[in-house]
Amino acid sequence: MLKDSFKRPISYLRVSLTDRCNLRCVYCMPEEGVPLLHHDDILRYEEIVRIVRLAVEMGIHHVRLTGGEPLVRQDVVDLVAALSAIPGLDDLSMTTNGILLSRYAEALAQAGLKRVNVSMDTLKPERFKRITRMGTLDKVLAGREAALAAGLKPVKLNTVVVRGLNDDEVVDLARLTLQPDWHLRFIEVMPLGDGVHWAGDGMVSMREVREKIEAELGPLTPSRGTGAGIGPARYYRLPNAKGTLGFISPVTEHFCFSCNRLRLTSNGLILPCLLSNLAFDLRTPLRQGADDEMLREIFRQAVRSKPRQHHLAQQVPEAEAHILPMSCIGG
Ligand code: GTP
Ligand code: 5AD
Ligand code: SF4
Repeated sequence: MLKDSFKRPISYLRVSLTDRCNLRCVYCMPEEGVPLLHHDDILRYEEIVRIVRLAVEMGIHHVRLTGGEPLVRQDVVDLVAALSAIPGLDDLSMTTNGILLSRYAEALAQAGLKRVNVSMDTLKPERFKRITRMGTLDKVLAGREAALAAGLKPVKLNTVVVRGLNDDEVVDLARLTLQPDWHLRFIEVMPLGDGVHWAGDGMVSMREVREKIEAELGPLTPSRGTGAGIGPARYYRLPNAKGTLGFISPVTEHFCFSCNRLRLTSNGLILPCLLSNLAFDLRTPLRQGADDEMLREIFRQAVRSKPRQHHLAQQVPEAEAHILPMSCIGG
């Protein structure tokens, strides 16, 4: 088992497949998008498969594919098939904005994907368009249905809460979880990417969200949650609810003490922490012909360097803010 210097077991790798996205969520990127990586800098599928195979040999058993938007990368189903064939990889999942999900859900499930998390910040079509700048809510809802029909369960919805943007909707969104197969997590907006502008006064604490929900819908009872067990969310259920409600509070109540994850960016950097500038380049040695042991050693170095915790609550000084946009790291 891989352990970092604070004895945290490291078992989860988030793999960003692309920095491209078919949306422009206001808290993530500017309207014109962000400067994109050059095609040659992006890891090829065989390179990703090699890195994941080594990671799994070392103790990773959950891999989540992220973006940008992972489904905009060509032939993503082929990659899922290759990854799901790696022995020891128990849980292969994806975080998507859902726009292309209805087209790919069945093929992804056939290729071995286990489950998906889908971003959905509002139930109002007009507002959805305003937040994502170009998305259609119906496509996301259809994507969710298609994922369920294909057996990609549980489908968890991710809702970033921003004051003045969608905080008036948290009760209506929470109510969805009364029905079977509706699992939803609220997330505090982090000062990353364009979130830098939306955090500050726009950040709504999970305590506030929870109080609003309990005042209208009754007390929440702790629940085991669904999916990979340990993670950043705390899970609850509304009275008589079939689905779960989660709260992710990276800003007001960090969960670093239980962090089990590393990130691989689409250009081949291993990031020990979402909120630190530390990065270990795997792509250059890999392309220069490094053998497996050399790559494993870089991976171990990244694990050893994992910081104890982030310092978001104390406000990130500009110099420490991430060099990479959120869409490149994959959340
Ligand atoms: P599960 O395997 O279903 O538990 O997935 P997950 O919750 O780890 O993944 P998802 O991509 O759905 O992440 C949900 C939200 O949590 C996103 O907004 C992420 O940015 C945030 N998040 C995930 N991991 C971390 C982390 O290590 N640190 C911080 N600060 N936020 C994270
Ligand atoms: N703060 C919190 N969550 C964010 N996401 C994107 N940008 C931010 C931010 N600044 C979320 C997306 C998606 C997940 C991958 O990351 O909404 O659910
Ligand atoms: Fe795209 Fe996700 Fe960023 Fe929205 S939050 S613009 S869906 S990468």
